[in-house]
Amino acid sequence: MRVKLPSPDDPGMRPLKATAGAAIALLALAACAGDPIDSSPTPATRGVLQAEAGMVVSAYPDASEAGAAVLRAGGNAVDAAIATGLALAVTHPTAGNIGGGGFMIIRFPDGRATAIDFREKAPLRAHPEMFVGEDGEYSYQIHHRSHLAVGVPGTVAGFALAHERYGSADWPELVEPSVTLARDGFVVSERLAASLEGRMEAFRDYPATFEQFYRDGVPYRPGEILAQSDLAGTLERIRDEGRDGFYRGATARLIAEEMERGGGWITEEDLARYEAQEREPIRGSYRGHEIISMPPPSSGGTALVQMLNILEGVDVAGLGAGTPEYAHHLIESMRHAFRDRAMHLADPDFADVPVARLTSKEYAAELRAGIDATAAGVSNPSDVEGAPPAESMETTHYSVVDADGMAVSVTYTLEGGYGSYITVPGAGFLLNNEMGDFNARPGLTDARGLIGTEPNLARPEQRMLSSMTPTIVARDGELVAVIGSPGGRTIINTVLQLVVNLVDFRESPEEIVAAKRLHHQWLPNAVRMETGFMPEADGERLAAMGHEVNWGRGQGIAHCIFVDAETGALVGVPDPRDSDGAAAGH
Ligand code: GLY
Repeated sequence: MRVKLPSPDDPGMRPLKATAGAAIALLALAACAGDPIDSSPTPATRGVLQAEAGMVVSAYPDASEAGAAVLRAGGNAVDAAIATGLALAVTHPTAGNIGGGGFMIIRFPDGRATAIDFREKAPLRAHPEMFVGEDGEYSYQIHHRSHLAVGVPGTVAGFALAHERYGSADWPELVEPSVTLARDGFVVSERLAASLEGRMEAFRDYPATFEQFYRDGVPYRPGEILAQSDLAGTLERIRDEGRDGFYRGATARLIAEEMERGGGWITEEDLARYEAQEREPIRGSYRGHEIISMPPPSSGGTALVQMLNILEGVDVAGLGAGTPEYAHHLIESMRHAFRDRAMHLADPDFADVPVARLTSKEYAAELRAGIDATAAGVSNPSDVEGAPPAESMETTHYSVVDADGMAVSVTYTLEGGYGSYITVPGAGFLLNNEMGDFNARPGLTDARGLIGTEPNLARPEQRMLSSMTPTIVARDGELVAVIGSPGGRTIINTVLQLVVNLVDFRESPEEIVAAKRLHHQWLPNAVRMETGFMPEADGERLAAMGHEVNWGRGQGIAHCIFVDAETGALVGVPDPRDSDGAAAGH
């Protein structure tokens, strides 16, 4: 059945414009000033929100509201996820995108689930040595900040595939809110204003980006309206022509022209050939909870289930949250999973990935048996020293549940904040720098976090390995939580700790999300821990076990939804680490 949504002029459907948006901006300022925010403001709130019939939690109020409006009008969770994702492409330019890619996990009310893979692909000309400069050395610049760093975008194809198979509303109605936000503008938050001001010097080298995000060369202030007319035009083509509005015709031509100008390799042929894929999700279990997550080309679901399987044989609740003993077992499970990630994980269309073994309880038992309860890395040493690389927080995650209990978990990205920094002239959207997620060069492994293993090298049309871990938790056939996070390789460990906080520590929804987190990735031999994860004196006990402890900045931005087991109410929890995160529901 197709649901006819009301016209965009209907107040229930209209995305936030100046008035409502300004109210949200004021709420943000209050939140930043430390004032508690009541969970009652509508239509979108930055605090925890309870709702009965539908919920969206995302990284920008207008985007959460665009999705919630679709739900109110009778659209399903897939419809709402598409509207939210397209709205984020307008209001959250650090990571929201149509020029990037990502993953969507869908759980249907009857417990079936599926995964939509819209990860970017390498262009046809790609090869494993493509990030080597004229001097014969690996070049960070080419790998991460050049036209060669751009992968063939997947987002529009992914949303179109999800809609074709599982949507219920009419496509144009899902795109229209983002067109309006781009054409009429939206209220710039304090966080976005600061972010854009901070990038101003860097963006001077990218004229189309500079023109798009500054007014006559001056940064927008919080509360001002940012309109993006070229982006509106592209979204109109997507609204009217579906995926062809992006992968063929004017948009594809503009992308290919920009590639040619900047020495990139993506052609109109690469764009026309791009296809999103539907895949079987990874399924695991943890103390009676069902875990549904993303399969390769993400490493996320596989590593998550592997780590949960290892921890299942440990009395995690007995060790207690925030203790050195708990941290030790957490780190050891990470050390194993990240080693296997480096050795085996890659695009399954190109590499034989032993997912069944990696996610089996038997394999986890073997690994667990090698873990020494008091000493680090005994059976699986990390033989590269150094501090863990800082990971970008600029991917974004959002969660959706509809009135029937259909749940959608989406993590998508441009890779770094604002991706490649390259805005397609005349098309108004940023291109990703996702090729940076391929391994740098065969055999190149070092303390910066580079790993030169074979499976994840750049090859024509291969998808680069990801850590994005959109996940859904269920129990006894009932939905329990929709979770995920940005944060590069830290994503998998953030989602792991969300599950442990939920299952072992039985924390409240707010505590599950707010609790401090840690990260270890096998190489280098270092753990990064959010300040407050444990008292610093306990950190010394952890160090005495052989761990290199680095106290660090915030890890992850987990915009999640939980189902209250007693009442069935939906509890939307924007991560307090993000002052722009917002829940909207009804
Ligand atoms: N670019 C972040 C990820 O895919 O893991």
